Amino acid sequence: MCGIVGYVGPQAAAPLLLETLQKLEYRGYDSSGICVIHQGAIQVAKARGRLRVLQELTRNGQSLPGSIGIGHTRWATHGEPSDVNSHPHLSQSGQVAVVHNGIVENYLELRDFLSEKGYTFASETDTEIAAQLIDHCYHGDPVQAVREAVSLLTGSFALGILFRDHPDQIIAVRKDSPLIVGLGKGENFIASDIPALLKHTRDILRLDEYELAVIRQDGVQVFDRYGDPVEKEVQHVDWDPGAAEKGGYAHFMLKEIMEQAEVLRDTLRPRIKDGAICLDLKHITPEDLRACDRIYIVACGSASHVGHVARYYIEKLTRVPVFVELASEFRYMDPPVTPHTLTIVISQSGETLDTLFALREAKARGSKVLSIVNVVGSSIANESQDVIYTWAGPEIAVATTKAYSAQVAICYLVALYMAQCRGTLPETRLQEDLAALSGLPELASRALQAQDHIQYLASLYFGCKDIFFIGRNVDWAIALEGSLKLKEISYIHSEAYAAGELKHGTISLVEPGTLVVALCTYGPLQEKMISNIREVKARGAIVLALAPEGTPLVEETADHVMYIPRANPLLNPSLAIIPLQLFAYYVALLKGCDIDKPRNLAKSVTVE
Ligand code: G6P
Repeated sequence: MCGIVGYVGPQAAAPLLLETLQKLEYRGYDSSGICVIHQGAIQVAKARGRLRVLQELTRNGQSLPGSIGIGHTRWATHGEPSDVNSHPHLSQSGQVAVVHNGIVENYLELRDFLSEKGYTFASETDTEIAAQLIDHCYHGDPVQAVREAVSLLTGSFALGILFRDHPDQIIAVRKDSPLIVGLGKGENFIASDIPALLKHTRDILRLDEYELAVIRQDGVQVFDRYGDPVEKEVQHVDWDPGAAEKGGYAHFMLKEIMEQAEVLRDTLRPRIKDGAICLDLKHITPEDLRACDRIYIVACGSASHVGHVARYYIEKLTRVPVFVELASEFRYMDPPVTPHTLTIVISQSGETLDTLFALREAKARGSKVLSIVNVVGSSIANESQDVIYTWAGPEIAVATTKAYSAQVAICYLVALYMAQCRGTLPETRLQEDLAALSGLPELASRALQAQDHIQYLASLYFGCKDIFFIGRNVDWAIALEGSLKLKEISYIHSEAYAAGELKHGTISLVEPGTLVVALCTYGPLQEKMISNIREVKARGAIVLALAPEGTPLVEETADHVMYIPRANPLLNPSLAIIPLQLFAYYVALLKGCDIDKPRNLAKSVTVE
C-alpha cells in the first residue's frame, strides 16, 4: 500500500529512484512521483498512471538532475489518483517535501489548525497536511521539526522527508507502516521493502516504531522517539538480487508458481532433521502447547485461507479447537482470548496492518503469538513471541502463490509439532508424516508438470462470466483460495462454496454452460462430491474436477479433470492449489489482464 524510496549519494538520484520504485510497484500503482534537490530548490515530477508515465515524463529521470531525492508509488486512499494527489507533496513555502505510506487519521483536524495559520492546500491528501505541519514546526532544525510534527499525527505513517535548506539529508520516520534504511558504500537509501534495494545493497536497518533516521551520503543516525541515539543492528539480507527479477518468465506470478517446489524445499529442509521437527521456538514452550485449550488463527486474504487449511491439520492431529478469524474482524470482536489461547498469525509481508493490530490485541489479552511470516525482521515477526519464517524469497506478484504454499507446509509441520508435544500422534505415524512432508517438493514439481494441460483447459473457459468453486472439508479451504486467485487477476466473477451448501441458494445461479470447479481430493467425502457434481451437471453446468491421479469415479462424472499426484492425503492441500494457481494465471493471460498488478489491488496492505 504505497511504496516509498529515497537516495543520497554520488549517483544521479532520479534514475535510481525510478529504478527502485519499479520494484515497489506491487505496493500500489495508480500514480507515482519523485523529487530531488538541485541548485537550492526541490524539483518535483509526478504523474497519474503507471510508473512508465513518470519515466517518460522525466526522460527516465534525466530531466531532474541532483543526487538526493525521494520517490513514491501510490495506492490512493485520500483523493482520487491524479497528478496533484500524487506524492511527493511540498509545503507551500517549498521548504519541505514528503512521501508517505499509511493514513494520517486526524488530518481534517490538522487541516483546520493549519488553515487558521494561513496554510492552503493543493491536494485532497492527508500527506500534504503532514508536509505543511512539518513546515509549520520548522524553525531551522529539521529533526526537531519532524519529531514535533510526528507527535501530533495519529494513524499510521512511514515518511521520507527532504528539507530544501538541508540538501545533504533525508529524514525518515515510521509508525505502523514499514520502512527500511539501506546502507551502501558512500551512498544510502530508504525504502518500504527489501526488493527495492537488492540491486544496491543487502545491508539494511529496520526502523522500529517512532524511530527517526537521518540519512546522509556518509552515514546514518537513528534516534528513538525521545530523541536519544539508537545503535541499530545491521541486518544482512541473503536474498539473491536475481530473486526480484523475472528471470525469463513473462510474469512474476508464473515465475513464483514455478518456484514452488524449490521454495518448499528451502522451507522444509531446515525444519525436518533426522526424523525430528526443528521449529526453534524460543518463547513458546512444549508446556505452553500442552496447556493451550484453543487456537485462534488470524490473517487476511490468502493467508486467512491458509488458516482454514491449518485448522484442518491442527484439529485432526491434536484435537485442539481452532478458530480462523479475519484480522480485520478479530481486532474488533472482543475475542474470548485467555492466557491458555495460542494465537497463530500468518502473513507473507509481515506488515499487513489489520494483522499487526490483531496480533497486538491477542497479546494484550495474554495470548502467546506464533507468527508465520515471509519477510525477515518485519513488524509482525518482531512483535510475536516466536516466528517461523517461510523461506519463499521475495514475492512480487500481487497474487500470492509461493508464499501461500510455504505457509501451508509450515502449518502442517506446526500441527505435527503440537501433536508431538501433546502426545496425540503415535511416533510411527509422526515419522510417516514427516517422511511424506519431506517428499512434498518432489510431488509439487510433478504437479507443476501439468502446466500445458491446465493452459489448454484455460483456453476453453477464459470467456466465462461466472465460475464457482466447490469442495468439502479441506477442499473447501482450497476452493476459497482457487476462487480468489481467479477473480483477483482475471476479473471473472467467482465464488467458493462448501459443496453441501450449494443447494441452499447458489445453485440457482447455475445455468447451462456455467463452469463449476469441483475439488475432489478429500477421500472420505469423494462420493458426496460426486453427488454434488451430478446435481450441478443436471442443471447444465460444465464441471472441471480436481482429483488425485487414478480416481475413475471422478473422471467418469466430470467433463474434465485436473490431476495432482497421488500422495499422503495430508499433502493434498499443498498439491491441489498448484493447478488452480496455473488455471487462474492462464485464464488471466488469455484475457490479456495485467497479471502481476491487478486493478485496485496492492500486495502489502498497510492501511485498515
Ligand atoms: C493482500 C495480498 C494477498 C495477501 C493479503 C495478506 O491482499 O494481495 O495476497 O494474502 O494481502 O497479506 P500478508 O502479507 O499479510 O500475507
